[in-house]
Amino acid sequence: MSARSPLRLAVFISGRGSNLAALGHACRERRIGAEVALVVSDRPEAPGLLIAREWGLDARAIPWPGAARRAEFEQAAAAAMAAADTQLLVLAGFMRILSEPFVAAHAGAILNIHPSLLPLYPGLHTHRRVLAAREREHGATVHFVTGELDNGPRVLQSKIRVRPGDTEASLAARVLATEHVIYPRVIGWRAEGRLQWRAGAAWLDGAPLTEPVVERFDA
Ligand code: GAR
Repeated sequence: MSARSPLRLAVFISGRGSNLAALGHACRERRIGAEVALVVSDRPEAPGLLIAREWGLDARAIPWPGAARRAEFEQAAAAAMAAADTQLLVLAGFMRILSEPFVAAHAGAILNIHPSLLPLYPGLHTHRRVLAAREREHGATVHFVTGELDNGPRVLQSKIRVRPGDTEASLAARVLATEHVIYPRVIGWRAEGRLQWRAGAAWLDGAPLTEPVVERFDA
């Protein structure tokens, strides 16, 4: 691990928080040079908030005020991020859409994980849709966030094979297990300075990523 100080993360969640937990473990075990400095949930009842509080993290509920008053959520979240001096915003199962001005104000400093091989299957119910389309492959994508839903420069994808007999639940579980590997991996790259944002593009190790890095999990 390098001598640089840990990258300070703000993690936004809406629910279970398993990606937050995976990230928290990677930080605590010093597998990545980062620390969770702030957790924000738009749902006060999110189980992920309990995990964060058990760990003694700065965890706040900022209840979603409705899409028409999204700016209020964003102002409160931005104030919490500034107070916690965070450097990277990590969306981990955060099921709201951030406004273009908010995203622009944090350009190149917001990552998201989505349970599909983007640009395929943005939005909800990805596993169900993958099964309905009889896809042979599935996975998850870590990408920089831009103003468009589930879009933005892709950094790393996990790929798994869809098995005969897979159900929505079995597929979701296998994809989620890969998420817990690839999200900490990308944040580690960022913490080491290997992953950068230049002029609207993702760069890894000094070269632009025209395609995401792919990690196969059941080759
Ligand atoms: C994860 O599968 C994540 O990829 C997905 O929500 C789940 C959150 O699980 N995110 C999205 O669908 C964003 N479009 P978690 O709360 O256990 O981390």
